[in-house]
Amino acid sequence: MSKQVIRNFSAGPAILPQSVCARAAEAIQELREDGHAVAADGIGLSVLEISHRSPAYEAINDEAERLCHEVLGVPETHQVLFLQGGASLQFVMVPFNLRQEGKVACYVDTGNWSSKAVDESRLLGETRVIASSAESGHDHIPELPAAEAYADASYVHITSNNTVRGTEFVELPVLAGGVPLVVDCSSHIGSRPLAFSRAALGYAGAQKNLGPSGVTLVFIRKDLLARPLAGVVPRYLRYATHAKTPSLYNTPNTFGVLVLKLMLEWLRDQGGVAAMEELNRRKAGALYNVLEDSSLYTPHARPGSRSLMNVTWTLGGAPEDERAAMTKRLLAAADAAGLVNLKGHRTVGGLRASIYNAFPEEGVRELCDFLREFERTA
Ligand SMILES: Cc1ncc(COP(=O)(O)O)c(C=O)c1O
Repeated sequence: MSKQVIRNFSAGPAILPQSVCARAAEAIQELREDGHAVAADGIGLSVLEISHRSPAYEAINDEAERLCHEVLGVPETHQVLFLQGGASLQFVMVPFNLRQEGKVACYVDTGNWSSKAVDESRLLGETRVIASSAESGHDHIPELPAAEAYADASYVHITSNNTVRGTEFVELPVLAGGVPLVVDCSSHIGSRPLAFSRAALGYAGAQKNLGPSGVTLVFIRKDLLARPLAGVVPRYLRYATHAKTPSLYNTPNTFGVLVLKLMLEWLRDQGGVAAMEELNRRKAGALYNVLEDSSLYTPHARPGSRSLMNVTWTLGGAPEDERAAMTKRLLAAADAAGLVNLKGHRTVGGLRASIYNAFPEEGVRELCDFLREFERTA
C-alpha cells in the first residue's frame, strides 16, 4: 500500500521543500568545504560537528548573509545578523537598542504577536499604541494615524504579517519625519517583494519561510548600530555586539544557518520573491474563493488585509456549541484525509491554513476540494 501524502498546514515550524531537507541531511552526513552538502566531495565532517570559526562554517555564514541581500532584497545599507532566542527575543532587543531618551516607543497593535512586543516595550519605558484593530478581533490592518501621533517616537513597530489572525500589510508604510520603522516580518518574509528599504530594522524567526526554528534573521540599518543607547543594555542584547563579528559573538545555530542558506538557494532557484508572489497569490486566492463562495465558512480577515500566508476562518451559522462540534468534526476528517495542522491558534480557535512558500499548490487544491465536499455533506 502506498503511503498517504501528508499536507502540512502548520504555522511554524512549517513545511520545508523536500530538496532542502535532503540537502540538509547530506550536510549532516558530510560537509563540503564551501558549505555545500555533497558527500563525495566532503571534508570528512558533519555540519553538526564543525567549529563556528572554521572556514567551512564561515563560507556558510557569508553566503547566507549574501543571499539575504540578493534573494530577500535586504538593502546593502543594512547589516544582516543571525541571532537566537526567536522573534520573541527581538520584542526585547528592539526597545533595549532603539529607545531614545525623551521619546516614546510606538506600536501598531494587529494581534497576539504585536501585543507581546508592546508588553516587552512597556517594561522598559513609555510605550504608545498608535493604531489597533483589537475592537474588531484584529480582522484588519488599521490605518496609520497622521504623523503627529508618532512625531515624538523613537521608532514605530509593526507586525507586517499576523500569523494568528491571518492579516497582512499590503505594503510596508513610509513614516513621516524619518522616524525609524521596525518590522516583525516573521511569517511572510520571502513570500513576495517587500520594500525593506523602508525599514530601519526587520526581524523574522526562520521557522516559516526561512528554515528551522532556532535562528532569527535580523537586519538593521548600519547607522543605527552607532547610535547611543538609552540606559544600560546587557552586552549580549546589543545589536552592535553581534554586528562586530558578524553573528559570531557566541556559538550560533550553525545547522539552522545552513538550512536557512539552503532555503534561500531554493527560493532563488524558484525564480525569487517575484515568482513566489505569483504562486502565493494563486494559492491564497483559490482558498479565499472557496471560503467566500460558502455559506458554511466565514473568512476572519477582511478583504484588503488578507494574508497570503495564513488563511483563517470559522464555521458560521449554527449556535456556538454546534459550531465547535462541527469544527472538531472537520478537523478530524481533514486529518484522516492527510490535511494536517488546520486547527486555529489556541488563543482564537477556528481554522487556519498556513500556506508558506514551500506549501505546494496541489495541496491547496486538495484542501479546497475537501472543504467543498465537507460543506456539501455537513
Ligand atoms: C509574527 C510572529 N512574531 C513573533 C513570533 C514568535 O516567534 P518565536 O517563537 O520564534 O519567538 C511568531 C511565532 O509564530 C510570529 O508568527
